[in-house]
Amino acid sequence: MSQVVLPEIYVERVVSEAVRELRHRVLWQHKESSEACVIDIDDAEHAIHLAAFTKNQFSWGIRLHGHPGTLVGACSLFDQHCMRVQVPWGPGDDLRLRVMGTLPEARGWGAGAALIARAVQEVQKQGRHALWCDARQVAYGFYERQGFAFLNDTYEIPDIGPHRTMALDLSSRPVSNL
Ligand SMILES: CC(C)(COP(=O)(O)OP(=O)(O)OC[C@H]1O[C@@H](n2cnc3c(N)ncnc32)[C@H](O)[C@@H]1OP(=O)(O)O)[C@@H](O)C(=O)NCCC(=O)NCCS
Repeated sequence: MSQVVLPEIYVERVVSEAVRELRHRVLWQHKESSEACVIDIDDAEHAIHLAAFTKNQFSWGIRLHGHPGTLVGACSLFDQHCMRVQVPWGPGDDLRLRVMGTLPEARGWGAGAALIARAVQEVQKQGRHALWCDARQVAYGFYERQGFAFLNDTYEIPDIGPHRTMALDLSSRPVSNL
């Protein structure tokens, strides 16, 4: 039986403009354009935008000037503490994960997990102890698979739907640069 070989994924830090099309196609289809898919703190000093790329090119993927491959996923990290509920592992030591998504054509290729792994490195590099997010209902299983725990019950975010706050405890995880 032949084994399915998934495209190799790598993650790089990118500028905020680079993640807008992904946000529009995957997360904020209700907005009128990619240019509208901005967050007021996108260009704040501590904001970090990560993109997952494949080495191969795919016609449905997002092309980025200067990158030979295809952008298939992205997320952003912000220096924001969780106000909805206290993150139990070192309150005030948390970093917020937002606008996480991968293109439907590339789901299951490991891009989501690669983005979380890189986000974990960023949290640890900053000496923080938790990564948290407002998780969409459709993504609960994904975050659980990455080790996140639920911190509260369901709440509604207008235009998007049910969410729960989830967080990843990094207070005792050894630092890895792999
Ligand atoms: C959730 C999402 C980011 C997952 O991305 P992905 O690139 O498919 O994830 P990966 O391929 O890295 O999957 C990693 C693991 O999680 C599992 N997984 C992925 N999505 C899952 C889901 N919705 N429920 C349960 N498990 C899931 C995969 O099977 C895989 O398991 P494995 O470790 O046993 O192989 C993607 O489905 C997505 O963009 N969804 C729509 C946007 C969204 O809801 N984003 C989250 C906003 S809070």
